[in-house]
Amino acid sequence: MLRIHAEHLISPSGQAPKKGNEMKKIFEAFDVDIILNKGKIVDIKKHKITDDFTIKAKLVTPAFVDAHTHIPFFGSRAKEFYLRARGKSYSEIFANGGGIHSSVRMLRNATTDEIVKQNLKYLSLFKRHGIAAIEGKSGYGLEKISELKQLKAMKILNEIQDVKVIPTFLGLHAIPIDVNKKDYIDEVKKWLDDIKEFTDTIDVFCDKGVFLPQDIEEFFEFAKNKGFKIRFHADEIENVGAAKLAIKLGAISADHLLKISDEDISQIANSNTVATLMPGTSFYLGEDFAPARKLIDNGAAISIGSDFNPGSCPIFNPAFIFHLALRFLKMEPEEILTAYTLNSSYVLGIENGKIEPGYKCDIAIWNTNELLDIPYMFDQNFLSAIIINGKVTIY
Ligand code: NIG
Ligand code: FE
Repeated sequence: MLRIHAEHLISPSGQAPKKGNEMKKIFEAFDVDIILNKGKIVDIKKHKITDDFTIKAKLVTPAFVDAHTHIPFFGSRAKEFYLRARGKSYSEIFANGGGIHSSVRMLRNATTDEIVKQNLKYLSLFKRHGIAAIEGKSGYGLEKISELKQLKAMKILNEIQDVKVIPTFLGLHAIPIDVNKKDYIDEVKKWLDDIKEFTDTIDVFCDKGVFLPQDIEEFFEFAKNKGFKIRFHADEIENVGAAKLAIKLGAISADHLLKISDEDISQIANSNTVATLMPGTSFYLGEDFAPARKLIDNGAAISIGSDFNPGSCPIFNPAFIFHLALRFLKMEPEEILTAYTLNSSYVLGIENGKIEPGYKCDIAIWNTNELLDIPYMFDQNFLSAIIINGKVTIY
């Protein structure tokens, strides 16, 4: 049994996914005790400070949940960062065999152990900055053996460290070099029974120059019939109808959405598909930002991810992502907290993201009373402790 005395507690309230105006509604309390037992929150009550609390905290929030990353990847694409800073575009580098293809080459040549080792480092940084759970994806294998290698690496990472990695299969991340698109999709179909042992979620890069809705609709009907949940990298570069198809297929999440149309905004708002936004990618690539305000004002549910990957967003720090969401997505701090905890937990299918009895106790403890300090001084790390599944790490 653990008792945290919180000077200031802030948590989303209500059921996920929280949509539109609801995202702003939070539970806020001052000078309360949070009682934890065996990985779960048991009680929250007003209490006079005595000496028998375990931890005294200034600000307590649910730990962040990153709804979209590309962990695990292998190697570095620092040279591409340089090329882009000198004017080459992300799509240009990709079309010339770099980009995702260069990560594919590096990952195929790496052993599972090497992949685990590199990504272990990232996960300890995620934890150090207040993240308790993330989505991870395959998608740098683009052949069965290497896609499975990435999924195995995620399984091992879950066994050896605290941050929970919820795996997604992203075999349709790019078309392997010298392979015909239709042949590749047909091939990937055959892998699904083996993939099912590792994950129940499938993603696709549905955009200009990669997979178009007409390429993949039948594949996703097939995957759905096998019981897979669906999510989409949708309409980031161009509106190719990806969000529309994601909604039609009942995807759990449509991600990026920089080029989403007004019509699709009202459709997504009237659906159960969550819009996962990643301002880090827009910032890093110098792209537009997704129309978050329009989405929320029309009633959509938003979740937030970093998109942490070696090419389009090498940023994971939730304080900086919070800063970008507040400043460029024009989201309110409470909306960001909800999107980054309760709604992202909903997308990943986990019982996190809320400080309420019955929920998992994945809690972040900050050395400041002000939530706004986190995005304001984003390169200071205010995290003083994190509790993941009931285990306390004090920094
Ligand atoms: O979400 N958009 C496609 N995939 C990643 C980029 C991956 C890469 O460049 O390695 C993304 O931005
Ligand atoms: Fe991505």
